[in-house]
Amino acid sequence: MIADISIELARRADAAAIAALSRDAIEHGLPWRWTPTRVRRAIEHPETNVAVVRELGAVVAFGIMIYAGETAHLQLLAVRPSRRRCGVGSALLIWLEGVARAAGIARIGLEARVDNAAGRCFYSEHGYHERHIVAAMYGGRFDGVRMEKWLRPAAQ
Ligand SMILES: CC(C)(COP(=O)(O)OP(=O)(O)OC[C@H]1O[C@@H](n2cnc3c(N)ncnc32)[C@H](O)[C@@H]1OP(=O)(O)O)[C@@H](O)C(=O)NCCC(=O)NCCS
Repeated sequence: MIADISIELARRADAAAIAALSRDAIEHGLPWRWTPTRVRRAIEHPETNVAVVRELGAVVAFGIMIYAGETAHLQLLAVRPSRRRCGVGSALLIWLEGVARAAGIARIGLEARVDNAAGRCFYSEHGYHERHIVAAMYGGRFDGVRMEKWLRPAAQ
């Protein structure tokens, strides 16, 4: 039930849990780039929102969105495996999109691994369309797909 999911901005103390979820759910097979230090910097960055879903005090999902002008980029979004297919990822994405809309963002871009069927289905379900495939986008090993969603027409 999306209504029962509580979403809030991450605190610096969440950095280790977020980084571990990124390593296990997103960066598997690649060098670990979203370390606790990098996540902490994102939490502190004024142009970045790091949002978490917390249950019984533990982070079960997180999303990192960075803003630049009229565009936002969803850097990472992951849900702990035991909490998937319950609407947690959707609630988090809708929350981040709401903040982006309020900030006047026109377009949200993101990337996913081509072999990430769940991620591609999830974003497609939320109105993101696939723009193009980039060979060896991830560490020279995995192909990526760039996706985007327009929240409103771009300013002329
Ligand atoms: C992708 C991910 C964030 C989805 O989170 P979630 O909480 O399970 O998603 P939801 O329950 O809100 O799913 C919403 C819809 O997305 C689609 N979807 C989600 N997971 C899917 C899967 N494994 N296969 C096919 N469709 C899927 C479905 O249409 C689903 O609706 P339904 O459950 O009514 O069929 C989650 O699987 C995850 O953390 N994956 C690992 C990290 C990752 O790949 N992140 C994205 C790239 S950075």
